[in-house]
Parts: sequence; structure tokens; C-alpha cells
Amino acid sequence: MHALDRLPPAARAYLDLLGRCLTREAFLDQEWWDADLRDWPGDVDELRAALRERQWRLVRRGDPAARAEGRDWPPTAETMIGTARLANVVDCCVTALLDGVPGDLIETGVWRGGTTILMRGILEALGDEQRNVWVADSFEGLPVPDAEAYPADEGLDWSDVRVLQVDADAVRANFRRYGLLDDRVRFLEGWFADTLPDAPIDQLAVLRLDGDLYGSTMDALVALEPKVSSGGFVIVDDYGGWPPCRAAVDDYRRDHGIDAPISTVDWTGIWWRKP
Ligand SMILES: C[S@@+](CC[C@H](N)C(=O)[O-])C[C@H]1O[C@@H](n2cnc3c(N)ncnc32)[C@H](O)[C@@H]1O
Repeated sequence: MHALDRLPPAARAYLDLLGRCLTREAFLDQEWWDADLRDWPGDVDELRAALRERQWRLVRRGDPAARAEGRDWPPTAETMIGTARLANVVDCCVTALLDGVPGDLIETGVWRGGTTILMRGILEALGDEQRNVWVADSFEGLPVPDAEAYPADEGLDWSDVRVLQVDADAVRANFRRYGLLDDRVRFLEGWFADTLPDAPIDQLAVLRLDGDLYGSTMDALVALEPKVSSGGFVIVDDYGGWPPCRAAVDDYRRDHGIDAPISTVDWTGIWWRKP
């Protein structure tokens, strides 16, 4: 798909700039992390003393390759999914809109909201005045896995990983930063198992799954995949990188007789189009 070629130059330029801001690729030379002292080859205590004396912090700069491939957890960027997977979101959403596929856009697992901000920007760029963007997350990070219900998630307790815990007001502030917060951005706050089955969503043109775990992926598929319109897209962020996510997708597709071919985005992302 080269959906961007179907857009006027101004819309293309806006979406390109929006993507490079959301990943911070446009500003990577200005983005810094506190460095991990475990990487330091010399005497850590001496280094600490020297830094304290000079009132310096030890920092390192973002790696452009890692950012482009969506392999790092950026310190400030609103999305961690990288260039290829963001471009795929543009491709799928623009194709769905231009082809008149009915329904809203959703991401389940939004972190700082960057991918859903891009989705709202796509509606803006194409002059859409009807569709909603649904923003579904616990806004408190990953759940404690339910290994009894979902054995594939055994041992994957990332529930205390602070960097994945971004509250809903911070995500709203990120939408506002880009001038894209309005009443067509609809938040579904809570665990997918609680929020998605009764979400007031009629139809979806694009369903994007980014919940990492088997349980999170399966809960979203069961509740939402049947709502994807014919001609709509299902995108899965973690298929290549997280075996439990892949298992959930494979199980769901097998159990529901889905044989639409899977296309690969990059080392982890995939998508298929509903016939
Ligand atoms: C890898 S991050 C998403 C990255 C994001 N799509 C982006 O563009 O950077 C995974 C997100 O899924 C959420 N999550 C995972 N499982 C969940 C569940 N069962 N219910 C609600 N939120 C969940 C986490 O809170 C976290 O924000």
C-alpha cells in the first residue's frame, strides 16, 4: 500500500511532520536519557564522586536506528513504535478512509498516546468530521498476568514497570500539545477485560492492538475484531517480538476461521485486511 500517494501534498507533509514529532526523530539530537551506570567500564564510585563535585549528570543520547525501528523506550516521545509501524498506521487508516470503509479507529494499549494522536491527525488531514478515535488503556501499565486463564503469560509480570504507567490526564495533555484533543477522542479507561466488551463502539475501520500479553491481546480481539468492517484493518504491534501475543493472534485466527493473509511491517508488527 502507498496510501500517502493518494493524498494532497499538504496532508502528506502534515502527517510526515506529525510522525517525526511523535517519535522525536526530528529532535533526536536534543533528547537525552540518564545513563545507566552499569554500562560504565571504569570505577563507578570515582565517576559518581566526580559528577557530584561538578554537579553534572551522566546522560546518553538516543540511538537513531533503535528509534526508527521502535526498539527503545523513549524518554519523552509520545510513541515507542518507531517509523515503520507509524507509517503502517498511516497507510491502513488513510486507505480505510479513502476507500470509504465505515467505522472508528482504535488502539488498545496506548502508553503516552502517540499512535492515537496520529490517528486523530489522520482524520484531521483528510477532513473527516464523523469518526471517533478510541484510546483504550489501563493508564496504569500492564496487568498482573492471569496465568491460570492464559498460561502463555506465565512469568510475564511487568505490572510494576513504572515507565509503562502513564495516566490518562498525561495522555490528554499530549493530545492537547498537538491541538488534537476534542470530543471525538474517546477514552476507555481500565483493564481491557472490563472496558472493551461493553464499549459503545458500533463499527471499526482500524483496530490496532498493542497490549503485549496473550491475555491483553485476546481480550481485545474477542471484544473488537467482530466489529471491524469488511475492508477494515487489524494491526498487531507485538506479533514478532512477543511470543505470547503471537500465540493469542494465531489462536484467535484459527478459532474464528480467519485466513486473510498476514503482512509484515517490520521485526514485530503485522496487519491483515478483513475481506
Ligand atoms: C507497549 S505499550 C503501548 C505503546 C503505544 N502503542 C505506543 O504507541 O507507544 C502497552 C500499553 O498497553 C497497556 N495495557 C496492556 N495490557 C492491558 C490491559 N489488559 N488492559 C489495559 N491496558 C493494558 C499498558 O498500560 C501500556 O500502556
